[in-house]
Amino acid sequence: MIITCPKCARDHKVNPDTLKPFADAGKKTILASCKSCKFKFPVSLSSLLTVEEKPVHAKRRPGAVARKVCITLSKGGVGKTTTSVNLGAGLALAGYRVLLVDTDTQGQSSYILGKKPGAGLTELLTHELSVSDCLTEARNNLWLLSGGKSLAGVKRIIDKKSFGAEFTLSEALSPLDNQFDFILIDTSPGWDQLIVNVLFYSTEVLVPVALEVMPLHGMSEFIKSLGAIQKYRSEIQLKYIVPTFLDLRIKGPKMLYDQLKKLYPEQLCKPIRYNESLAEAPSFGKTIFEFAPGSTASEDYRSLVRRVSGNESALLKFK
Ligand SMILES: Nc1ncnc2c1ncn2[C@@H]1O[C@H](COP(=O)(O)OP(=O)(O)OP(=O)(O)O)[C@@H](O)[C@H]1O
Ligand SMILES: [Mg+2]
Repeated sequence: MIITCPKCARDHKVNPDTLKPFADAGKKTILASCKSCKFKFPVSLSSLLTVEEKPVHAKRRPGAVARKVCITLSKGGVGKTTTSVNLGAGLALAGYRVLLVDTDTQGQSSYILGKKPGAGLTELLTHELSVSDCLTEARNNLWLLSGGKSLAGVKRIIDKKSFGAEFTLSEALSPLDNQFDFILIDTSPGWDQLIVNVLFYSTEVLVPVALEVMPLHGMSEFIKSLGAIQKYRSEIQLKYIVPTFLDLRIKGPKMLYDQLKKLYPEQLCKPIRYNESLAEAPSFGKTIFEFAPGSTASEDYRSLVRRVSGNESALLKFK
């Protein structure tokens, strides 16, 4: 890390390990002395120890096929888009090459990432542009295939197809199969032909479920619909259930969490706690790791990155 002298503006390299003993002893600030001009000035330890991890550059095994994870639940407002964007950004920070596909007409992924793509999923599905022209590089290692209003027209085209309509998305995305480690697909609420397409394309399902009674009911309905798809497509598996909006001050959510633990012990992930930074970050076009790196929300999404990637040391250094 770098400390800049406020008097002579010289940058000085500092090893964070030398500062940890001060922080562990409960010190909030240290007195730094500039090696060039000898000026002494206070530096807050929390600002030094809360560093953004530098993105690692991805190393892909040649020919490896991307894991295709859709983030879906028919119920609206449960944290699908928030989870897609922050899980994608976290995996990218951990060094994986990630493509985020937004299949929602609300097109919120680009807004959260502070991007205004000229083209996206619509142009890919209608073959108006080449695959590479439809992708937006949103961050290091993170690409976006944006959604938006124009997808409504695409849904009509899919609906009118008399044969193989459910494979429209799979066919359009197939050239991207071995260019990424993860392809994450965010879906809209409800149930339509585009969501069926997503379920015919993905191999893993991640369900974010707000810890309230209604979304739990919505989840069991969704699991029935997924079962109907699995009759035709056995590759798709419900892999992760991510409780969202956990507020430990209230009794109800904890009870619902325990209920989920009994029903889905293998799929249940650590919850994402309620945190206002998650609602604030989008208006700054920032992910949670950029907006509030030291928050509980950042911690919870980093834990989800480890769970989904199976890489237990991913983003551990990140504070
Ligand atoms: N853990 C959380 N704590 C606080 N606010 C959150 C949390 N997760 C998401 N939010 C906020 O809740 C709202 C709904 O989240 P989000 O848009 O991710 O849900 P969604 O399931 O994608 O909704 P839709 O079904 O409309 O697509 C957003 O304003 C988001 O910023
Ligand atoms: Mg959404």
